[in-house]
Amino acid sequence: MCGIVGYLGKREALPVIIKGLKRLEYRGYDSAGVAMLNGNLEIVKKKGKVSDLEAEIGTKKLDATLGIGHTRWATHGEPNDKNAHPHSSADGKLAIIHNGIIENYSSIKKELELSGHVFKSDTDSEVLIHLIEEIKRQNQCSIDEAVRLALNEVVGAYAIVVLSKDDDRMMIAARKGSPLVIGIGEGEFFVASDATPIIEYTNNVTYLNDREMAVIKDGSLTVKNLENVTKTPFIQKLELDLEDIEKGGYPHFMLKEIFEQPKSVRDAMRGRLVSREHHLFMSGMDQYLNRFINADRLILIGCGTSWHAGLIGEYLFEELSRVPVEVEYASEFRYRNPVVREQDIVIAVSQSGETADTLAAIELAKSKGALIFGVCNVVGSSIARIADAGAYLHAGPEIGVASTKAFTSQVTILAMMAMYLGLKKGTISMSQYQELLLGLDSIPDKVTKILSKADEILTISKSFYQARNFLYLGRGFNFPVALEGALKLKEISYIHAEGYPAAEMKHGPIALIDEDMPVVFIATKDSSYEKVISNIQEVKARKGKVIAIVTEGDTEIKSMADFTFEIPSISDALVPLLAVVPLQLLSYHIAILRGCNVDQPRNLAKSVTVE
Ligand code: M6R
Repeated sequence: MCGIVGYLGKREALPVIIKGLKRLEYRGYDSAGVAMLNGNLEIVKKKGKVSDLEAEIGTKKLDATLGIGHTRWATHGEPNDKNAHPHSSADGKLAIIHNGIIENYSSIKKELELSGHVFKSDTDSEVLIHLIEEIKRQNQCSIDEAVRLALNEVVGAYAIVVLSKDDDRMMIAARKGSPLVIGIGEGEFFVASDATPIIEYTNNVTYLNDREMAVIKDGSLTVKNLENVTKTPFIQKLELDLEDIEKGGYPHFMLKEIFEQPKSVRDAMRGRLVSREHHLFMSGMDQYLNRFINADRLILIGCGTSWHAGLIGEYLFEELSRVPVEVEYASEFRYRNPVVREQDIVIAVSQSGETADTLAAIELAKSKGALIFGVCNVVGSSIARIADAGAYLHAGPEIGVASTKAFTSQVTILAMMAMYLGLKKGTISMSQYQELLLGLDSIPDKVTKILSKADEILTISKSFYQARNFLYLGRGFNFPVALEGALKLKEISYIHAEGYPAAEMKHGPIALIDEDMPVVFIATKDSSYEKVISNIQEVKARKGKVIAIVTEGDTEIKSMADFTFEIPSISDALVPLLAVVPLQLLSYHIAILRGCNVDQPRNLAKSVTVE
């Protein structure tokens, strides 16, 4: 949820850290801070964005070759200067940055207060650094031992970096449940929540596992677990280009990522779909093919946009591979007592691979014997690592908080999985299979065609950007697209929007319709086309404004809707991959016209690594 970065080496640390924080700002942006260690331990922190922190630093001399930085998404304590990280110990000799939640902080805090500790902030993170300090004092031990002992006492999730004024060549990092990567350069080390702050300096990295800590001292890295057993770090090469994490001439990451979709969808298919030879290769599924073929049921789990992709997955798997499917919000699944059996396969859908609820849900399912299959974007992420098998999206970094290209890649992967399983089970005919293969293969070009008409969406947006509510309606495969369109709009433009199955409108939402209510219909020529036309008529009869996403050449809906946007024709099962694109653009343009920050919408963060 928060972004953390640390540097120890020969360079000036501050520019490395500030640049890193800007890259990590998608993870949280309500306050930011740095601690620099060079004889003195200097801490500067400020409510607001990293740019506010830079202004606060101004001309302050923060020369140091060791430092840490943090960009926050508030959990405990409102976003303000005092709750911003880094936090320091009572004697001011230790500093910490933390991403995650210390669940038992309140009881630890009470005990520390009894021993005389006074806290300056409302955060759980400050409690942790005081605990480390107290343990060090009581045990007269080294700082890394105090960190290890303290972490054995805390419950919750964390990625932390700790500095000690008594040792200005040492940085200690640890993780449990929150991501942490260590970059290893020539005589220098980096620690960060993801690899983006590291990539331009080195591509040698190691990912800490849960309950592991790294002690970087005097030019060397030691990794051990919280039981004090030394581990050999697995050094791997980063597969990330600098240009992947830059805007590449676009005004916003979200727009760049929307326009990247022809490529990202192609990349999801690369090495898996060979349409000319009518072949699909799903190596992750092959490992467990019998289990897939004999599965009693598939349970698709995710949150937000990934849950919407899961809903489309349900339609795809049921239609093409005739297996019962349930789609679960991870946050609900993990807290009830779900019936999960060994014959179940749980498919975890997550762009980041770090969403706390999804992670906890699959841990629960795994403990009950289900096979876990990950559909993640971030390579080496926690969900990807815990899964028994999986298929990466290969969409490249998604930095805009509103998920766009990850969604289309998730749907692409789920479509290929459903087709592959259908073929292996004999539940789809060869002609249907071949038609879908060719259809999938044509998606990148069709998305390019849609994107070439993005100006039409800008025109529509100008008519509706002041609306206070929006309704999105679709049927069948287009119902989850309606949900996704509504989510995109509300999260970046703050307009209240609801997605509904079009047929459900008359069971309630129709009461909302008047001349001020824009209704977006996903009304492509599919098996429900005639029924959707009736729903459009019902809205028009109540003076609602209709924006319809229609199939190329449609004249009927054009004659009744206020605005239409044409998308190329494709099989019903693949329509979501096209229909969602104009809805992404609609929310983007409306948000821009309303003056919203589309890449960093209020109250949100890119990956939700807390409950
Ligand atoms: O990283 P994940 O796919 O697990 O994230 C799940 C949701 O937090 C995410 O899709 C969220 O809903 C997006 N902001 C939607 O645009």
